[in-house]
Amino acid sequence: MGIPVRHFDAVIVGAGGAGMRAALQLSEAGLKTAVLSKVFPTRSHTVAAQGGVSASLGNSEEDHWHWHMYDTVKGSDWLGDQDAIEFMCREAPKVVVELEHFGMPFDRNADGTIYQRPFGGHMSNFGEKPVRRACAAADRTGHAMLHALYQRNVRANTHFFVEWMALDLIRDAEGRVQGVVAMEMETSEIVVFQAKATLFATGGAGRIFASSTNAFINTGDGIGMAARAGIPLEDMEFWQFHPTGVAGAGVLITEGVRGEGGILRNSAGERFMERYAPNAKDLASRDVVSRAMVTEINEGRGCGPNKDHVLLDITHLDPEVIMSKLPGIREISIKFAGVDPIKAPIPVVPTCHYQMGGIPTNYHGEVVVHGEPVQGFYAAGECACASVHGANRLGTNSLLDLLVFGKSSANSMIEFIKRQPEDLPALALADVERSVARVERLDKQTGGVQVNDARSALQRTMQAHCGVFRFKDMLEEGVKKILEVEQMVARTEIGDKSKVFNTARIEALELDNLIEVAKATMISANARTESRGAHVRDDAKDTEETPNGRDDKNWLKHTLWFRDGNRLEYKPVNLKPLTVDTIALKTRSY
Ligand code: FUM
Repeated sequence: MGIPVRHFDAVIVGAGGAGMRAALQLSEAGLKTAVLSKVFPTRSHTVAAQGGVSASLGNSEEDHWHWHMYDTVKGSDWLGDQDAIEFMCREAPKVVVELEHFGMPFDRNADGTIYQRPFGGHMSNFGEKPVRRACAAADRTGHAMLHALYQRNVRANTHFFVEWMALDLIRDAEGRVQGVVAMEMETSEIVVFQAKATLFATGGAGRIFASSTNAFINTGDGIGMAARAGIPLEDMEFWQFHPTGVAGAGVLITEGVRGEGGILRNSAGERFMERYAPNAKDLASRDVVSRAMVTEINEGRGCGPNKDHVLLDITHLDPEVIMSKLPGIREISIKFAGVDPIKAPIPVVPTCHYQMGGIPTNYHGEVVVHGEPVQGFYAAGECACASVHGANRLGTNSLLDLLVFGKSSANSMIEFIKRQPEDLPALALADVERSVARVERLDKQTGGVQVNDARSALQRTMQAHCGVFRFKDMLEEGVKKILEVEQMVARTEIGDKSKVFNTARIEALELDNLIEVAKATMISANARTESRGAHVRDDAKDTEETPNGRDDKNWLKHTLWFRDGNRLEYKPVNLKPLTVDTIALKTRSY
């Protein structure tokens, strides 16, 4: 075959929080573990997480994992699997204290315990009032977390392959996963990473939208690879729009700002969230706040000359609190909005932030298709769907997800690897050859479509047809348009290779992944004819049987999109927790 093959016990694609938490567990267990990353590990997108990681430590006031579980089920609009949610919320205090012992520099209370702030949808006593549950390192929690995890991995001798892009999953004739084909980005050298167990921790794909808080690297690589390898994608219609992206720039302003007392105001200076969520107000869950903001703008109460944003006001806070607890936000606001938030409010709009769906797994991190684990294949973090976020994720549950499921998937991998023979099996060549052929097609193609043009068409289509509010006719047209974009993507060329830097090839390969995510999203959204969590349609009527348009009779189920034929299947939501009673279905209000 002529392609070098490197052998490991475990290969992990992605060096964000989930990948590095898993790698640490595996390396410390003495397993030879490779981590492939498109960027230097501490530049992975986890670095951008600001406000905190949730755990019911109860450091400032009473809290309980069961209340956290209730909030997460309610936040998910009952689409989350209750076994996985119970597991995550019970594990939370443990994984956060572990992280503290790894050296994570959390902010501290006067008594030395970890500082916690309130966040949207996190309440005490089964929905009573906001509770301080987000464990924070100022407004740079993800940054602090990644550095702590990276340093521990260096100590544990994890093998990092930096600026390597995984191209395709390798499966044998029985469907067992053998590793990945990958490319060194600087040289274009293609190498097979063969392993006993493979984990995808590639993060999200927020770059399918034109306006996104996501880094340029968030192109859904693991999701695209899984789809091409025949793995279905779960609940891809559910995308979170974070309420506070800087207007015009999309950069994230943490919800922690509202946790510290920030208030959203319309052009009349009104605290409009009091009308939409009388109890939680500005700390209602993200889908509720984003829709309220868009409604204010659509009804003419937006701010600025174009009335196209609302204002996030913290001018009433003590400047000392802003400087100590929100220093990064002040810097972002000055740089991207030209506003010092100590003196004037920040212009904000809802911006694509997080995908709730992904590669279907159980809470052990095993990828599961038709009820059976795919042998040797695991996924964790934003690319995976465990499913703990259901139709809408609560803020700070993402950093928790990647710690809990990074660790649990690694534990499953350790057990799986123990059961494997010492020697790796013969490599399945068909997938390797198919992957190499994909790169060769790109290199040879001329007279085709520019990558930038195809990507812009994709992002414009998703933004216009599949945003905060969704419309039946726009979704139907969106499906047609995204299939046309797919034809453009199939004809992309990277230009004269003597003149273009190798990033052109990488961008074309990333586009192959983005299009899979975009198709899965649009087709799944068009099919789900109810409103639930972040998926809200104009034709889903608010009736006694379908409150807020949510149709539990017909739609309390997960979507599975298969790339082959754009086929959809559905599977039931797991409403049975591990040890407690089911959190019973209710109409959701804050
Ligand atoms: O608002 C934030 O700090 C984002 C946190 C999250 O997405 O979990």
